[in-house]
Amino acid sequence: GAAEKGGYDHFMMKEMVEQPKAMMEALLSRCCENSESFGELKLNAAMMENINRIQIVACGTAFHAGMVGKYYFEKFARISVETEAASEYRYKNPIVDENTLLIVISQSGETADTLAAIRLAKECGAWVLAVTNVVGSSIAREADDVIYTNAGPEIAVASTKAYVTQIGCMMLLAAYMGRLNGKLKEADSTRIFRNLMMTPGLIEKVLDTKETIKAFADKNYRINDLFYIGRGLDLYTCMEGSLKLKEISYIHSESYAAGELKHGPLALIEEGTIVIAVCTQENVFEKMLSNIKEVKARGAHVLAIVQEAHRDIASEVDEVWVIPEMDDDITAIPTIVYLQLLAYYLAVARGCDVDKPKNLAKSVTVE
Ligand code: G6P
Repeated sequence: GAAEKGGYDHFMMKEMVEQPKAMMEALLSRCCENSESFGELKLNAAMMENINRIQIVACGTAFHAGMVGKYYFEKFARISVETEAASEYRYKNPIVDENTLLIVISQSGETADTLAAIRLAKECGAWVLAVTNVVGSSIAREADDVIYTNAGPEIAVASTKAYVTQIGCMMLLAAYMGRLNGKLKEADSTRIFRNLMMTPGLIEKVLDTKETIKAFADKNYRINDLFYIGRGLDLYTCMEGSLKLKEISYIHSESYAAGELKHGPLALIEEGTIVIAVCTQENVFEKMLSNIKEVKARGAHVLAIVQEAHRDIASEVDEVWVIPEMDDDITAIPTIVYLQLLAYYLAVARGCDVDKPKNLAKSVTVE
């Protein structure tokens, strides 16, 4: 009923609105004097010295959080990480042994492929750390270590609040590993934590723009295709945004590394094709501008998402959605909220059953 949806029309909207609170819970539960603390882990510095390989394995939205996690591990701890879909990992004879740390991410803690990946890795002697939202779930029970995302129950099939908390936990965990192995300075880890603590407020700012996004959706809901382009961290936001759209609105979409456009998808751009260009990363901002020009030249209708300082991109594109100024490492958190809202309003305008999309389940426990 309406009461359990907190007065909203759908669980998905309730859960999107709950994201600032969910994020705060995820952070506060592992906050210790302005730094991250993982007192709950059995994995310690001495054990970490024997680890020479980190793999992140997950499915769906959690897999995208794993891509973001890889980015953070490489940046903060200078450890190379492989992120793989659980359904690929388990059937390919992966290189995994007693010197491997396998990190699995799962909202429900019940996904069959992810659970199978844990069993396989454990048989080979790996240490398994699970990041999950459900206390006492199968994945929580079978892993050697567990980090709970503390997002609260998630009902809608399309994952929203679990995703932002998964990203938060990955960022904290990467900073923690960086401190353990000495690659991250104390001051940098404090800065990372402070930046993360700002994300609930930043998410709130995006939620405040709901009406603008709804208006865009109401105008454009008849589209057949949507393209998302980005570079670096923004690419993973594009992948997740594109998944949200497919799941609930049934609109076909592609997410592409912007630099790969000219190797294929550019052939699909026609007069009026909507391209969402996520441009929140300063180091590749100019590169994104050239990609925007490439699609504009083929008639694309471009919506750009930028940090406040680049608001003047308006002269190059058709529409701009702005996030406040922030450290480039945390933009993935508020930016995905724009793409969640967009998928939601497009799905509503198309009359879709947002909370229970056809053919999909909240948790895939059978194969
Ligand atoms: C299903 C759900 C997705 C979810 C994925 C992985 O496909 O519909 O929302 O991301 O499973 O689920 P998990 O519970 O392992 O994160």
